Amino acid sequence: MHPLPEPQAVTAPLSSAALILVGTVPQDEAAHATVREFCADLAGLVRAVGFREPSAALTCVLGFGAEVWPRLFAAPAPAGLHPFVPLHGVHDAPATPGDVLFHIRAERSDLCFALATQILAALGPALRPEWEVQGFRFFDNRDLLGFVDGTENPTGPAVPAAALVAEGGHAGGSYAIVQKYLHDLDAWNGLDTAAQERIIGRRKLDNTEIAEAELPSSAHRLLTTVTDDDGEELQIVRDNMPFGSPAAGEFGTLFLGYAADPAVTETMLRNMFLGDPPGDYDRILDFSRAVTGGLFFAPAASALEDLAESAPAPAPAAAPEAQAPSGLAIGSLRSPRA
Ligand code: HEM
Repeated sequence: MHPLPEPQAVTAPLSSAALILVGTVPQDEAAHATVREFCADLAGLVRAVGFREPSAALTCVLGFGAEVWPRLFAAPAPAGLHPFVPLHGVHDAPATPGDVLFHIRAERSDLCFALATQILAALGPALRPEWEVQGFRFFDNRDLLGFVDGTENPTGPAVPAAALVAEGGHAGGSYAIVQKYLHDLDAWNGLDTAAQERIIGRRKLDNTEIAEAELPSSAHRLLTTVTDDDGEELQIVRDNMPFGSPAAGEFGTLFLGYAADPAVTETMLRNMFLGDPPGDYDRILDFSRAVTGGLFFAPAASALEDLAESAPAPAPAAAPEAQAPSGLAIGSLRSPRA
């Protein structure tokens, strides 16, 4: 097997800080050219900010949505890239506007902030920001529901196996599904700890698993454990981040899952929102509302640089008659014969 092309920093370890930025690209050629050319400039920008504080391990992953890909690039889109599929159950998973994803991580939030500022300055009107989340690592790697989050993430060689496309023209790339969730913490904290633990499927204090036999089939850890036809577990790499604003009463979890195949994450989402068996949905959702949803493809690092040169052919010129206002040269060429 050939070694994989160097990925973007998809497989970077969980960080203390993250900034997730999703934007849309206006329908105009100048904007398309700016975003396309930026693909070759991002790595330099990350070095320029990150080298000033190497111990903060600044990284940035850039991904593209299905609708914008053919507007930006001649290179064929990855097979699994399609618009985020919204889900409608007792609770909804909406699809929201987003052409471009920046997933910025570091051990310090100031570096994430500085890089996002520079990215937006470089792109100018070519990127319309849709939403941004500045996430932080919370005690014991807990989310704001109070549970340790990320325990069953793959480790070691299982990380690239779960997150990166293994073969073909898009090898080394990764599919990212991103959702912003807002929690109703008053309602959640109104449950006793045992009820919360049955919803998540783990003990709150010591983070141990609760046996499947003691759990309802709707427990989060059961609905998000998915297997292939041979019973092999299919994994994704989660980079969840807590975020919020106490003064505004906002408490959230940013869900970001990298996968070699977006169908794995989509199966987990269907299980959560529609239930498995159908109807028995994930009760996390009674207390957590998904307010954004997007699917993006983050090409391998070298592929990203190559995309800077991958301009689609210009749209065919309109027929001269249609183009030329009356009275211009074409009309006057005809006039002697008229
Ligand atoms: C497990 C929280 C959304 C996939 C967990 C755990 C917690 C948690 C506390 C148990 C510890 C762990 O293994 O990480 C949350 C919260 C969410 C959320 C607060 C949003 C409000 C999602 C979504 C997906 C997902 C949208 C996938 C589409 C998983 C997976 C596991 C997991 C795969 C590991 C299951 C296992 O193998 O035990 N989550 N999660 N989660 N979650 Fe979530």
